[in-house]
Amino acid sequence: MANIHELLAHRAPAHALQQPFYVSQDVYQADLEHIFYRDWLYAIPACQLIKTGSYVTMRVGAYEIVIVRGRDGEIRAFHNSCRHRGSIVCKSREGQVAKLVCPYHQWTYDLDGKLLWASNMGPDFDPTQHGLKPVHLRNLKGLIYVCLAPTAPDFDAFARMASPYLDVHDLNDAKVAHTSTFIERANWKLVWENNRECYHCSANHPALCRSFPLDPEIAGVSPDGSISAKLQAHFDRCASAGAPAQFMISDDGQYRVARMPLEDPAVSFTMDGKAAVAKKLGRVELPDAGSLLMFHYPSTWNHFLPDHSLTFRVTPISPMETEVTTTWLVHKDAVEGVDYDLKRLTEVWNATNDEDREITETNQRGILSPAYQPGPYSPDWESGVIQFVDWYAGSLERSLTPLAIAAE
Ligand code: FES
Ligand SMILES: [Fe+2]
Repeated sequence: MANIHELLAHRAPAHALQQPFYVSQDVYQADLEHIFYRDWLYAIPACQLIKTGSYVTMRVGAYEIVIVRGRDGEIRAFHNSCRHRGSIVCKSREGQVAKLVCPYHQWTYDLDGKLLWASNMGPDFDPTQHGLKPVHLRNLKGLIYVCLAPTAPDFDAFARMASPYLDVHDLNDAKVAHTSTFIERANWKLVWENNRECYHCSANHPALCRSFPLDPEIAGVSPDGSISAKLQAHFDRCASAGAPAQFMISDDGQYRVARMPLEDPAVSFTMDGKAAVAKKLGRVELPDAGSLLMFHYPSTWNHFLPDHSLTFRVTPISPMETEVTTTWLVHKDAVEGVDYDLKRLTEVWNATNDEDREITETNQRGILSPAYQPGPYSPDWESGVIQFVDWYAGSLERSLTPLAIAAE
């Protein structure tokens, strides 16, 4: 890893990263091992698994995971690799089963991972030693996070910060109205960098700009923690209406919450700025409370609105491919065609995602050029990108040098 250390050491502050960070297989592998295999990762909204035995599968680097709702109502995650000879147990992206049955030799697991049945394994075989291996899982107010590390890092500090903000959105009363998954042919960090600024918005996002303000303070992170009087007034107004709003960020910069205003008079991400769903999800009583922006690196950013919510999941697929899954959540009793129109609900972010995919892929192509040289970020408009890249570099550095940290 010496060369990655060297690259990090020679990184110019407030500049884009050097080419290997966006193209190299070695850096990609380091990103997986030191970030994605260690940190908590957003997986799905809990409401995606309503029924007993409903499951989803996901892949993170080399890991295969299955997340399933048990008979006791608990959602659990397991390594999706059979304890016999390792076959994938659940092959579909999602489904519903009574038991988890391996397709190879039909070893049969209960929904809590216990091995129930394995034929002809001889008298010495101990099924209790061959249950599916568990994966750490936390349910944060209806958002499921998983962690692949043998010992998971702390989740409680994030849960403490985010819970009061999420509470009013009642995500346990939600249902999935729509999901979109696509692959961006770009490194996962370019997907994040693009997300963390709106410098590109006016030229690229005609639909989003109808509701998302072109104000760098909304997407950014002020280096000295200052907040404009106008924004503070918005935070205070939301808070007095019962919806926590104040900008908060973790000390290490991994996660942030803030309820940011939309472009007046918009109240939701729609083409006309009006609410997308008549039967609203949550108890945010202030129609113009805006969007609760929450990110948790490296896997998710979110928008929680007074009428509906959106989650985004980022999963690296290869050095220059990233899967992005967007999920639109509405109240579980909201009826399509009555309380909301699916096209109206989804059109702004479907268009925005496609525009972001295009610009991020174009960014990746230019970075592949031998002439690429990291350029400076705009201090005003790209403070959020600087914050992301600093978190990434610091996180990778700390993970690559655990002894140095221990000695501090
Ligand atoms: S590999 Fe699963 S039953 Fe044989
Ligand atoms: Fe964008």
